[in-house]
Amino acid sequence: MCGIIGYIGKDNSVKHLIEGLRALEYRGYDSAGAAFFDNEGRLCSVKAAGRLANAEAKLTPLPDSTCGIGHTRWATHGAPSDTNSHPHGTESLRLVHNGIVENYAAIKTELSDLGYTFESDTDTEVAAKLLDYYYMKEKLTAHAAIERMTSRLVGSWALGILFADAPDTIWAARQGSPLIIGVGKDEHYIASDITAILRYTKDYYQLDEGEIAKVTRETATVYKDGKEVIKELKTAHWDIEAAERGGYAHFMIKEINEEPAAIRTTLHSRIKDGLPYFSSDGFDTKIFARISRVHIVACGTAMHAGLIAKGVLGSLAKLPCEVEIASEFRYNDPLIGEHDLVLIISQSGETADSLAALRLAKEKGAATLAIVNVIGSSIAREADAVLYTMAGPEIAVASTKAYSVQTALLYLLSVEAALVRGKLDLDAAKMRVTELYERVPEAVAEMIARENEIKAIAEKIAPNEDLFFIGRGADYYLAAEGSLKLKEISYIHSEAYAAGELKHGTISLVTPGVPIIALCTVPRLYEKMVSNIRETKARGAETFMIASADTGVADGTADHILRLPAISAELAFLPAVCALQLIAYHAAAARGCDIDKPRNLAKSVTVE
Ligand code: G6P
Repeated sequence: MCGIIGYIGKDNSVKHLIEGLRALEYRGYDSAGAAFFDNEGRLCSVKAAGRLANAEAKLTPLPDSTCGIGHTRWATHGAPSDTNSHPHGTESLRLVHNGIVENYAAIKTELSDLGYTFESDTDTEVAAKLLDYYYMKEKLTAHAAIERMTSRLVGSWALGILFADAPDTIWAARQGSPLIIGVGKDEHYIASDITAILRYTKDYYQLDEGEIAKVTRETATVYKDGKEVIKELKTAHWDIEAAERGGYAHFMIKEINEEPAAIRTTLHSRIKDGLPYFSSDGFDTKIFARISRVHIVACGTAMHAGLIAKGVLGSLAKLPCEVEIASEFRYNDPLIGEHDLVLIISQSGETADSLAALRLAKEKGAATLAIVNVIGSSIAREADAVLYTMAGPEIAVASTKAYSVQTALLYLLSVEAALVRGKLDLDAAKMRVTELYERVPEAVAEMIARENEIKAIAEKIAPNEDLFFIGRGADYYLAAEGSLKLKEISYIHSEAYAAGELKHGTISLVTPGVPIIALCTVPRLYEKMVSNIRETKARGAETFMIASADTGVADGTADHILRLPAISAELAFLPAVCALQLIAYHAAAARGCDIDKPRNLAKSVTVE
């Protein structure tokens, strides 16, 4: 989604803007731009559709400047084009915006009647011209004009603003879209995402809903409802190395390689005497004895992690669990109340639909718990309790290590729920926790070490345009994630099917040569899976089987077999998903795709 960076200090601001925008590229964007004061104090703008390099070319040689704002845009209102790119504004001001102004059409009509004209199709230009109206026509101060303008908007925004007559100030405002102020030595930043400024500083203030900030070289003053607010200075715990590729060809493969360590780090502080331990998270697990149902609500890969948890919560803790797509949950009048726990899973903690679902769950009186990777993000702050995954920054749009740490943590949580509900004895719980902490990271590392074997499979499927992932039970849930990963980055169309359901219609699409990737990590379902594989083979499919280490596979069951490392069936999903991620990665690489920045996708989806 869109990204914001701003710099004011002694250094060249345009250099900082370009570096910040480069660090924000991972969020997904289709145009970029910047506004800055030149060395004669003139307010200048540059914008260009396409990759950042296009805007950068227009900024070369670097203009002399010590104050500026930059933006990467992910098109919502109006196609990606130079004109629709941010910044927007007038002679008197420039503005960059993340979020959506929902009532822009009515305001646009009002401003047109007042003589304003519009060049772009964007909602942002309307906000910029409304601000111009209050500043230039109604002669309000900068602060008052921003207050008036934002009070008129319906929707979400993170804003960076420059006024032409104030070359020593950046204004910022937040409602519904994240924004931070980075604090350096004699310099300040504004950013939508800490990764944009990590190279320069780890210290920052987080803007809260409805706050407006005035940022100069020396000071950052934050206001809410016209009054100054004292903010707590926070320090980011992520290192810049974690947000850089460090010799890997892509962030995605780097992040897959980080999975074993990320799983250990996420689990480490939550295991005591061989048993789950959530007290240091401030989460009282006794709630599992009280509630009658868990609703997991999330989007994309995080939702697929929830599906794995649904299986484990059911089988270990005998706790009914529903997994719901956040954008559906929020509009379906969900039947939830005080006997329900709503569990929101989100890597970014900022996904608009997941955040709205959380707010709805709270409104309806359900207890809420969040599993989030980004510390201090909106979902983390608004849920009753939060369990942080400790995956470090995930930069690649296709989520990999976040899924692994989410599912590992959810498994530990399920063991705890089973203990609290008296469905598991201590020894059985300890055995599971030991395997999770000791064996799972090793097994994932073993899978990664066999990358070349997996690459050979990926290269076989890469020339196809359609394929199927099939599985039963947990393997069906894994299939969903394998299929999503492949679609996201290789653009191969694929579907995940419950293996037994294929024959009820979709098998009509299985023609000679169509690849079928069959997941067989659940021993009790193995024979059933073999029958389903045979059904597809009989129709000429090229079959690939991902099977657990100890399953006896008869010759000819599948055309290609990938054996998982030795691990219990309950935890096989972790090395298995790693194999699926590597298949997607190498298939995309074989097709020459832009793996870290797949078309049309955004890392953090902050609009509905
Ligand atoms: C976007 C990303 C996905 C991600 C989903 C949910 O669609 O491209 O990779 O799974 O959002 O994101 P979240 O940050 O809430 O986990």
